[in-house]
Amino acid sequence: MSSIMGNKIKISVFGQSHSKGIGVVIDGLPSGKKIDMEKVMAFMERRAPGRNAYSTKRREPDTPEILSGLVDGVTCGAPLAMVIYNQNQRSNDYNNIMDTPRPSHADYSGYMRYNGFNDVAGGGHFSGRLTAPLCFAGAVCMQILEEMGVNVYTHILSIKNIKDDRFNPIKIENFEIGKKDFPVINDAKGNEMKAEIEKARLNLDSVGGVVECAITGVKAGFGDPMFDGVENQLAKNIFGIPAVKGIEFGNGFNATTLYGSENNDDFCIMDGEIKTVTNNSGGINGGITNGMPILFDVAFKPTASIYKKQNSVSISEKTEKELQIKGRHDPCIVPRAVPVVEAVAAITILDILI
Ligand SMILES: Cc1cc2nc3c(=O)[nH]c(=O)nc-3n(C[C@H](O)[C@H](O)[C@H](O)COP(=O)(O)O)c2cc1C
Repeated sequence: MSSIMGNKIKISVFGQSHSKGIGVVIDGLPSGKKIDMEKVMAFMERRAPGRNAYSTKRREPDTPEILSGLVDGVTCGAPLAMVIYNQNQRSNDYNNIMDTPRPSHADYSGYMRYNGFNDVAGGGHFSGRLTAPLCFAGAVCMQILEEMGVNVYTHILSIKNIKDDRFNPIKIENFEIGKKDFPVINDAKGNEMKAEIEKARLNLDSVGGVVECAITGVKAGFGDPMFDGVENQLAKNIFGIPAVKGIEFGNGFNATTLYGSENNDDFCIMDGEIKTVTNNSGGINGGITNGMPILFDVAFKPTASIYKKQNSVSISEKTEKELQIKGRHDPCIVPRAVPVVEAVAAITILDILI
């Protein structure tokens, strides 16, 4: 199966970058939930391209059309289906990559998987554009989570080697971070990051980075051990976001450099509840939530489509060939990927809690 995720809340994402439309079917939503479409649109706007200097100039109106599942704006229990009709396509930009795949994009692997029938225009089904329906689904799930006292926060933790401050792992206080045009905690670092992205763009190149995510309000005791843990489910779904190359929970790889006495999260009583003094575990032990904020970092590689000349091949002629790509691409995916991480986290955690 591809492009379907979830157990009790099942999300099926469909479409290609340049097909007639892209969309999502969300099955399993509880009935009787009022969905505020203005909030959904405001959330989707955070992912949309063409909003600022460091994003691609490609404009996508991204107006979702609800086909089913809502009656007078309230979930009715039937699958919630949404389509966005594609506009602003320039498929000719992709003529040359049909036979000459872009290094580190999915053109070649997709060609081999689908015997050359894969749609390469705009990246086809592998396009970052498919994260628009994901954001729609995430925005819907987020509203249900908020009623349950659960919130998801994300920010840009780093771009290339420039690092933002981290969330306080014990108590998240950056409630307004999602409203920022460039979501960082430390704006001075944010300006350095923007300059780094601009430098890459001027060099016809690209840069990657890390997104930090925190989920608050989840009580202890959710999740299952071994193969269906909260880490497992988050990791599986987060890797569905194009360009994700890594995920670390809590102290992650850094824990390997510490003594147990430094890394262990000592228990304490806080406001009458069992909590931990530190949160190196990222809120999860044995695949099960421990009542602390769930914390994870997501690594995004630099955008594969760069305007520098690159070495590729002609698939049909089996010869080496230089590639000069066209089309409109972000010199850095990370700012637009921030709400996508938030959306996938919301979908996954609602699926676990419901
Ligand atoms: C929001 C978003 C926008 C993206 N935009 C682009 C883009 O403009 N150009 C590009 O080459 N890749 C872009 N990507 C990433 C590619 O879709 C991805 O690298 C490609 O499908 C190969 O998959 P992989 O990197 O996960 O292996 C974007 C990803 C996201 C999340």
